[in-house]
Amino acid sequence: MIPAKITTDTIRAMKARGEKISALTAYDFPMARLLDEAGIPFILVGDSLGMVVLGYPDTTSVTVADIEHHVRAAARAQPRALLVADLPYHSYDTTSTAVENAKRLVAAGAEAVKAEGGRAIIEQVRAITSAGIPFCGHLGMLPQSVREEGGYRVKGKNEPEHQALLADADALVEAGAFAIVLELVAAPVAKEVTQKVPVPTIGIGSGKDCDGQILVTPDLLGMQPWYNLKHVKPKLNAGEQIRAVVKDWKQSIETGGKA
Ligand code: KIV
Repeated sequence: MIPAKITTDTIRAMKARGEKISALTAYDFPMARLLDEAGIPFILVGDSLGMVVLGYPDTTSVTVADIEHHVRAAARAQPRALLVADLPYHSYDTTSTAVENAKRLVAAGAEAVKAEGGRAIIEQVRAITSAGIPFCGHLGMLPQSVREEGGYRVKGKNEPEHQALLADADALVEAGAFAIVLELVAAPVAKEVTQKVPVPTIGIGSGKDCDGQILVTPDLLGMQPWYNLKHVKPKLNAGEQIRAVVKDWKQSIETGGKA
């Protein structure tokens, strides 16, 4: 039997059944296909693209055209997984740009979009879901605000942040979000949000009690050995292995071997 296509309803039903959700990022055809073949139900073409593929210092330079291009590549894998795309920085400043850009990403092959923020962007979220486009929220540390915030830090450690996270999560649910990514949220607060909202929470650096976990795939694979990340212990040292294989091949060529 061919396994059924994963939809936002499938993702929501996983929470209802108490099944943990594994989510990873992909930016191209081979990775989307490999993740899908490994059974990952939620694939994100994240704007982490800017840092892990395009070489920017943060996500703020990523454009809608960048995400569109990479969504098209990932969508060519025709994944069974739900394919979600990030709306990049400043692409959802108004309700009309939010809907227009979300539609562009859907036309490129995304089945849902994600944007950063809660009550601050709630009109845009309502406009997107009213246009029939499934929406995934993103609360906690918001990488698109890293310049204003001056760095990446855990959110929810004080009472105002704790209350703000609860209110933002409720607002996203009310506006129709089907899931919420919680990035660098203090673990007890992530647990409380998870227990409170009816939609799945997908954590990154937010403790083990979210309904699912998401990672930037190159971080999981150790593709960038020059960074030392606190929230993820790579399961592979792909960066080092690539260097070693390439050095070995180079040496074999230089000593007259075959390709
Ligand atoms: O852009 C991205 O990869 C993300 C994940 C870190 C959740 O938003």
